[in-house]
Amino acid sequence: MNKIIDGKAFAAKLCEQVKQECIALKDQHNLVPGLTVVLVGDDPASKVYVGNKNKKARELGINSQEILLPADVAESELLEHITKLNQDEAVHGILVQLPLPQHIDKDKIINAIDPKKDVDGFHVVNTGRLYTGQDSLVPCTPQGCLLMLKEYLGDLSGKKAVILGRSNIVGRPMAELLLQENCTTVMLHSRSKDIKAEAASADIIIAAIGKPEFVTAEYVKDGAVIIDVGINRIERSGKAKLVGDVAFDEVLDKVAAITPVPGGVGPMTIACLMMNSVKAAKQSKA
Ligand code: GUN
Repeated sequence: MNKIIDGKAFAAKLCEQVKQECIALKDQHNLVPGLTVVLVGDDPASKVYVGNKNKKARELGINSQEILLPADVAESELLEHITKLNQDEAVHGILVQLPLPQHIDKDKIINAIDPKKDVDGFHVVNTGRLYTGQDSLVPCTPQGCLLMLKEYLGDLSGKKAVILGRSNIVGRPMAELLLQENCTTVMLHSRSKDIKAEAASADIIIAAIGKPEFVTAEYVKDGAVIIDVGINRIERSGKAKLVGDVAFDEVLDKVAAITPVPGGVGPMTIACLMMNSVKAAKQSKA
């Protein structure tokens, strides 16, 4: 089996299923899933992500729109947009791209979104539902990581999974999802001790710390499976380069499988957003 987990190909397969579902929803229920992505400011990386999300949504038959707001938009104005989107029956999914500017209270914004339209799965209601094992909209990046792990490894029961990073977007929900798959789950972060030894005892490593090529061969057990969530822009030999949180070339010999950057987690995150958008649209009619 190929060692490099092809997230791009797997995401394309999932997106094809979403496309078929959109056709069926239109035919059978005259329902077109609607997604609105809100971008505040002009962070170049966020602009690329938002553009990719919209483009993919439109390709699949999801009615997608962008709301672009200036970096100095008042929090109250952003909240007004969300209230309108919550009331709009044609909008089934709302995503506010993070990070938000400092003067805006991120939690207040996320929790203003109708939990049924929270396709990011960040609302406290969806978080609570996930953490208590109830059906919910699940954050896209960890959902995509889990799908790749299950595709590659099958049953994850009893495996030791080490998660590097404790963010609300990736690390924490990832730990919960792996716990639900009966993994022995260890979360490591900037204050953890013996990170190297802990990581080197793991069957599965999820690297989500935003440090370019942090995970070197010493952190990796022979035969481990690595999911690299990092997207870091670095300069090497005078050229701009995209690298993950894992020193890919160095660990390749040791691992059973690894996701590349780019072409691993990124496309799967978008595919999961598309799946969440269709799920939210279906549930709006339930
Ligand atoms: N910024 C980085 N990842 C994400 C994500 O999954 N959702 C949103 N809304 N913002 C992000």
